[in-house]
Amino acid sequence: MTLSDARLSTRIAIERAGTWLLRATGDEFIRLSVGAQPDPYPAYARLRARESLYRNKLGAVTATFEHCNLVLRDRRFGVQRTDGRLPRFFDTLAMARGPEVVQSFLELDPPDHTRLRKLSRPAFGPARLDGYRPLIESITHDLLDRATAKDNFDLIADFAGPLPIRVISELLGIPPVDTDRFLGYGRVLAQALDGITSLRLARELRTATDEMYALFRTLMAAKREHPEADVLTQLTEAHDAGELTLPELLATCELLLVAGFETTVNLIGNSTFALLNHPGQWGLLRDDPGLARAAAEETLRYDPPVQQTVRVAHEKVELAGTRIRENELVFVMIGATGRDPAVFANPEVFDITRTPEREHLAFSSGIHYCLGAPLARLEAEIALRALAERLPDLALDGTPRRRPSAGIRGLLRLPVRASHGKPLMVP
Ligand code: HEM
Repeated sequence: MTLSDARLSTRIAIERAGTWLLRATGDEFIRLSVGAQPDPYPAYARLRARESLYRNKLGAVTATFEHCNLVLRDRRFGVQRTDGRLPRFFDTLAMARGPEVVQSFLELDPPDHTRLRKLSRPAFGPARLDGYRPLIESITHDLLDRATAKDNFDLIADFAGPLPIRVISELLGIPPVDTDRFLGYGRVLAQALDGITSLRLARELRTATDEMYALFRTLMAAKREHPEADVLTQLTEAHDAGELTLPELLATCELLLVAGFETTVNLIGNSTFALLNHPGQWGLLRDDPGLARAAAEETLRYDPPVQQTVRVAHEKVELAGTRIRENELVFVMIGATGRDPAVFANPEVFDITRTPEREHLAFSSGIHYCLGAPLARLEAEIALRALAERLPDLALDGTPRRRPSAGIRGLLRLPVRASHGKPLMVP
């Protein structure tokens, strides 16, 4: 064991003991943050109903729409500490990945955040988006042709999973032969984002990062030889013009790739699951596939793929009668905001025809608002429309399995069949 492994091992042990102790005291936030939650929404309601912010040794927890929105938009909060150190948990993740890996712009404050986000923005702007529709439709129908060759199929493994990875790989300029490898890296990374819980996971993460970065470097060389109209070519040119360093470029590619598929799979999966569990709503979509965009939007409110994020106070702040210290962590429970009765009427009802009072926070808010939101919306709309048009009798067919994660909510497995079946309850 190397010295850095020994340090990491000690850190993991301390964090595990801390988590265990908090769990033993019945800490509501820890229960919501460790492992998959079959139904976290009653616990969110309890957090929202408190007079002041919930607080534990890790920081403060915001769960109402108003407070979460405020923290996400208020420039007195950021994602880095004022002393330049990384916030807790992120430093364990950084330790696990090694010193040569830098933070992506999701984990950076201005001015670096602004500079790096700007370089990636053109690829996801409205002007480019319409051009992606034929590509997404063609991948969608190709996947459905293959999936429906069998009577029963797994909506996640056969459809919702491969769709976003194939789309984002195309946009980035990654050849199809490499997409399966990226899928594997993404899984390790997504697990690590929930916390580095073992040295084994840390090693897997390091290997995945090394392999992924080696592949990006090879692709960069290929793009210099044969430039194409893709994001990797653009970023390689920006790098060669001195606009971003090589570690920054690698971190950006990784962010775009992983954010591009680890979340959208769950939007398509959670939407389909909610629709099939509410046959009346599925019937509405089947009768009018034009409701596909609204169905995805309702799922983002009702059962969003990203359940929580975190901010750091850059100065002392008074919030909901609670004083937040400089550099204190504030956990933002995005998953709780879509069902806040102070904002949404009948928030527990899944209704794809609703006219929402406010835009949900599923894509966050403020300067880190999801860069890929228009792309995710387009993919989900095309996917749900295709399901409704081509498989009107789609039904659940077996027990779904949740992914073992609290931060990202979704299913690993969703068995379905294209003919009649009984609705199942949430596992
Ligand atoms: C349903 C699908 C998606 C959901 C629910 C989602 C959600 C989010 C959320 C909540 C954040 C902000 C986290 C924070 O404030 O701390 C975020 C940021 C981001 N997302 Fe997404 N995302 C989705 C799809 C995508 C796609 C398809 C891409 C395309 C590449 C993407 C790229 C990004 C990037 C680059 C950021 C960082 C933005 C920044 O820090 O300025 N996301 N996403």
